[in-house]
Amino acid sequence: MSFEAVTLVDDDKASSYQILLEQARILFAGESNRIANAANLSALIFNSLPDLNWAGFYFMDGEELVVGPFQGMPACVRIAMGRGVCGTAAQTRSTQRIDDVDLFDGHIACDSASRSELAVPLVHQGTLVGVLDIDSPIRSRFDDQDQQGMEQLAAAYVACIDQP
Ligand code: SME
Repeated sequence: MSFEAVTLVDDDKASSYQILLEQARILFAGESNRIANAANLSALIFNSLPDLNWAGFYFMDGEELVVGPFQGMPACVRIAMGRGVCGTAAQTRSTQRIDDVDLFDGHIACDSASRSELAVPLVHQGTLVGVLDIDSPIRSRFDDQDQQGMEQLAAAYVACIDQP
């Protein structure tokens, strides 16, 4: 199996995300292991979306988040609920789209290159599983279409995993 990176262009971002979604579903087909699917989705996103410096997962581990499969620089391992962009996405169960992380109170700087961030909560049959997170070195990198595209990818991931 091989994948060509999808180049997302601003004037046709929605259809580019549809291609990415199809590629993700092909990767998940017949596989329900959440680590394997998270690893492949991280790699797919990181190598397809331009201007990212990090793409990956945090999973719920007891009362806090712990880092999962990702692409990019080494990241902070544990994040408390409500802390930083990811902890806020987890606690509120709502996507956090941050145009300028320097203006986000409590932002956790794992990679000092990060300037904007998009964190999508992962909810499996009512249970919070974790967060899908992407970072960019460019301010205001993510728009509505990126948010919708990433939320669709997160939903496709949650739909294929076998355990909360
Ligand atoms: N910046 C995140 C921490 C995770 S990293 O970006 C990989 C936050 O504030 O939660």
